[in-house]
Amino acid sequence: MLCTARILPSRLPLRPCVSGARRRISGASSGLPEHIEILGGRYPTDAITNVTPAILNKLSLRLHTQPAHPLSTLRALIEAHYPDFAHLSSLSPLVTPYKNFDELSFPKDHPGRAVTDSYYVNKDLMLRTHTSAHEVEVFRKGETKWLLTADVYRRDEIDGSHYPVFHQVEGARVFSADAAGMKECQESNADLAQKLATENIVIEDVPHISPTNPVQPTHDPRHSELVAKNLKLSLNTLMLKLFGGVAGSSAQNPLKVRWIEAYFPFTSPSFEVEVFFQGKWLEILGCGVVRQATLDTAGVSNKIGWAFGLGLERIAMILYGIPDIRLFWSMDPRFLSQFEQGKITTFRPYSKYPSCFKDVSFWSPKDKPLHENDFCDLVRDVAGDIVEDVQKASNIPRINYRSMDRSLSNEEVNGIQAQVVSRLKDQMGVEIR
Ligand code: PHE
Repeated sequence: MLCTARILPSRLPLRPCVSGARRRISGASSGLPEHIEILGGRYPTDAITNVTPAILNKLSLRLHTQPAHPLSTLRALIEAHYPDFAHLSSLSPLVTPYKNFDELSFPKDHPGRAVTDSYYVNKDLMLRTHTSAHEVEVFRKGETKWLLTADVYRRDEIDGSHYPVFHQVEGARVFSADAAGMKECQESNADLAQKLATENIVIEDVPHISPTNPVQPTHDPRHSELVAKNLKLSLNTLMLKLFGGVAGSSAQNPLKVRWIEAYFPFTSPSFEVEVFFQGKWLEILGCGVVRQATLDTAGVSNKIGWAFGLGLERIAMILYGIPDIRLFWSMDPRFLSQFEQGKITTFRPYSKYPSCFKDVSFWSPKDKPLHENDFCDLVRDVAGDIVEDVQKASNIPRINYRSMDRSLSNEEVNGIQAQVVSRLKDQMGVEIR
């Protein structure tokens, strides 16, 4: 959004200023503390460290476990739909890149690995970018039906629907890859199909397997087909549970769900699910038949199964009518006191305060072009949640300051803007125009 094209990964990542930490004094890494404290641990930094204090401060909040918080209610609602699954929600967000990517068959050159897209503590440790990062460890524990809810971290632009921390629920079910397992799968399919038959839902489907969405070479196509069917039936019933009340309330107005072929490195066949809501198709989740390599690594090669991952904020914004993703992080009692654990209610906006635009016009160094995500992280680190979005007006980044909780004074915004400008100069080497 800020820069039209993604520029090459910057070699000069943001440097966290963590108080009390010793600082390096020379070279490109000056200003970077040698170690940073995260969730009680102490970790060395290196040339790719790009976590910021603003991000690290979010790690302990775990909104999906805060009673009455909309994300917590939504988690509980999904867990209640899968009563016989294990429910996990307290795994650490610190993972190795190996676990986040390699174990899941991500190619070495996958763009998600770039320092411009993910948060690194150092080259060996990062903040998970998705809950799939835990698939191998959970399968290794022997869980065959499980849900895992967690905060995930991705470097991104700033606007009303993007935030660098959000929450996902991963769900998975595996069966024995033999006659007994497939019988269990068939029985589950019959049971789910019967439940759906009487419901007010219209499903646009795609083939379970196709040349563009292939069965894995080590899978018996009949097994893969049954498992993909189980995945679809299971998620169609979940969509009905989540959206049936708001979108499919009458015979003339059924809930519309559509399945689309997709690609993920760690599933095949892979799909995305969209739900028709207020005149638009909304992408809700990604899923597929788990790549056998994942199960082999987990030591359960005799299984075959499915997995899905969905973003909670997206769904909560729809169900609660929450207009801005920053609100989930609000500590304002006017936000928090509106909600009760287990109940979905419509959010009542308490006010809209005036906004204040500030343009930042600069030349970035030729050899180190400033990436939009580096710019946005710096802005978030200085200004926190009073930045509503960052847009481009005639190619010049424009920061839109607006608090959700109070009016901002001119002095305050000018002071923050001055800090943004000074850090851009000092840390990013840009020249202000
Ligand atoms: N991890 C994927 C994402 O974040 C979603 C996914 C989960 C896809 C499980 C397939 C299977 O986009």
